[in-house]
Amino acid sequence: MSKLKDEIAIRRTFGIISHPDAGKTTLTEKLLLFGGAIQIAGAVKSNKIKKSATSDFMDIERQRGISVATSVMAFDYKGKKINILDTPGHQDFAEDTYRTLTAVDSVIVVIDVAKGVETQTEKLVKVCRMRNTPIIVFINKLDREGLDGFDLLDELEQKLGLTVTPLSWPIGMGQRFQGVYNRYEKKLNLFSPHGKQTKEETIEFTDLSHPDLEKHIGEAAAAELREETTMIEEVYPQLDVNAYLKGELSPVFFGSAINNFGVKELLDCFIEIAPTPLPRITEERQINPEEDKFSGFIFKIHANMDPKHRDRIAFLRICSGVFERNTNYLHVRNNKKMKFSNPTAFMAAKKSVVEEAFPGDIVGLYDSGNFKIGDSLTEGEKIHFKGIPSFSPEQFRYVENADPMKSKQLAKGLEQLMDEGVAQLFTKDFNGRKIIGTVGALQFEVIQYRLKHEYGASCTYEPVNLHKACWISYDDKEKFKAFYDRRKRDMAKDKDGKVVFLAESAWTLKMAQENFPEIQFHFQSDF
Ligand code: G4P
Repeated sequence: MSKLKDEIAIRRTFGIISHPDAGKTTLTEKLLLFGGAIQIAGAVKSNKIKKSATSDFMDIERQRGISVATSVMAFDYKGKKINILDTPGHQDFAEDTYRTLTAVDSVIVVIDVAKGVETQTEKLVKVCRMRNTPIIVFINKLDREGLDGFDLLDELEQKLGLTVTPLSWPIGMGQRFQGVYNRYEKKLNLFSPHGKQTKEETIEFTDLSHPDLEKHIGEAAAAELREETTMIEEVYPQLDVNAYLKGELSPVFFGSAINNFGVKELLDCFIEIAPTPLPRITEERQINPEEDKFSGFIFKIHANMDPKHRDRIAFLRICSGVFERNTNYLHVRNNKKMKFSNPTAFMAAKKSVVEEAFPGDIVGLYDSGNFKIGDSLTEGEKIHFKGIPSFSPEQFRYVENADPMKSKQLAKGLEQLMDEGVAQLFTKDFNGRKIIGTVGALQFEVIQYRLKHEYGASCTYEPVNLHKACWISYDDKEKFKAFYDRRKRDMAKDKDGKVVFLAESAWTLKMAQENFPEIQFHFQSDF
């Protein structure tokens, strides 16, 4: 029992989120270098999908293939076991990222100093805030000209709704960038471009009014730093670790990932304050990591790139107890016992078979189609983990069978791809037509391609004019019936049989909401 507690205490499972190009891959790599998980820079392949690749879905799939290896990167640092969960930055895979965020205990948000808060960051932070996930912000690329530090903090507060406290503060920027004052450790970290940070460049500096400051950074910068840090003391709250853990206060660091500057400070603070594996909510009860019985859920499924092997990897987040190899566990949805002979752990780009895994760990399970996203595995208890929502898609098309001889293959392929969470499928009540909904245009091509290569099925798409799919709930059956009868042609079921209203336009949605105030319209599936 105490071993379990010890293992939990050293674990930190988190995700790095950012708008593409802010520096997520670079930061991940530097963190891995500190952990000794990789030896050379460039070892982490970028998991991002380049914009030029939008028409070439083979390339996209190849790039997605890389992401299996980099889905989870575990490393040890100062006695802690750190699991970084990778999140695709490309907006067309935003759903993947949302789901991964259900498996982390905290996040680091990377912001490009020149660009400030960008759209993708806004969306992702919103999802974190729904769940009160603790957030640390890293403002990157200080070696370049960018926005003023205070303006950036304002943006974090206004656009992301965060309450912030800067734990480091930049001294100049771009050409004039001299380093940061680390308020957390009370140290002056001096920057030398293209060089590695050395010990001599980190100076204990508890009192910024000391005249030595001028010697290190010059008169003008010293005056500015003193003025700005005084302002920070007056305007921003002190670090309160409990507020951070509740998702109510976000520490902010400044640095330059590519120059490995400010990264160690970020990591050192992170391992001190970031949460250990947190409890998880199920429909039945809260699951605490210290419980001795194992439980976990599947948050991501990745198809095998090789069409000859249709097996997939299901990613399991351990929530409580100890997961052991070759042990029978209950697959709750199927009410079936399963055991796993080759559960996989991920160490940077390496994979290895694990004998046991602890709360906070991610294990890859080879799967031949048994798992759906959100599935629970337990020692026997029938629990259903909550908080793995589907979001209302943004693009819709009718999907039609292009090869009548292969309708079974098409149905199976669609079902499995939907289980993987590639897109969402809605079936209209009125005529049984199937509509695929996605967050980005890319998935339509991915689906068509994969259906052909993995299932031997062909499909075509037809345009359908839809604005949103909303999940419906109601207390009053009669009122629902009245609504249903009125909007019969717009009603559908999602893949789990939940009632969905397909709104043609923002106007029809607004009218429906106004005319039927007793009906609740939800933009995500778990309400
Ligand atoms: P992402 O995963 O968030 O999409 O970003 P990634 O790390 O790939 O970084 C995007 C670009 O920003 C890369 O340049 C990277 O080298 C650069 N970058 C990252 N951190 C810093 C930094 O601190 N300062 C500066 N000046 N640049 C930084 P690229 O030209 O797109 O790619 P590459 O050819 O360098 O790999």
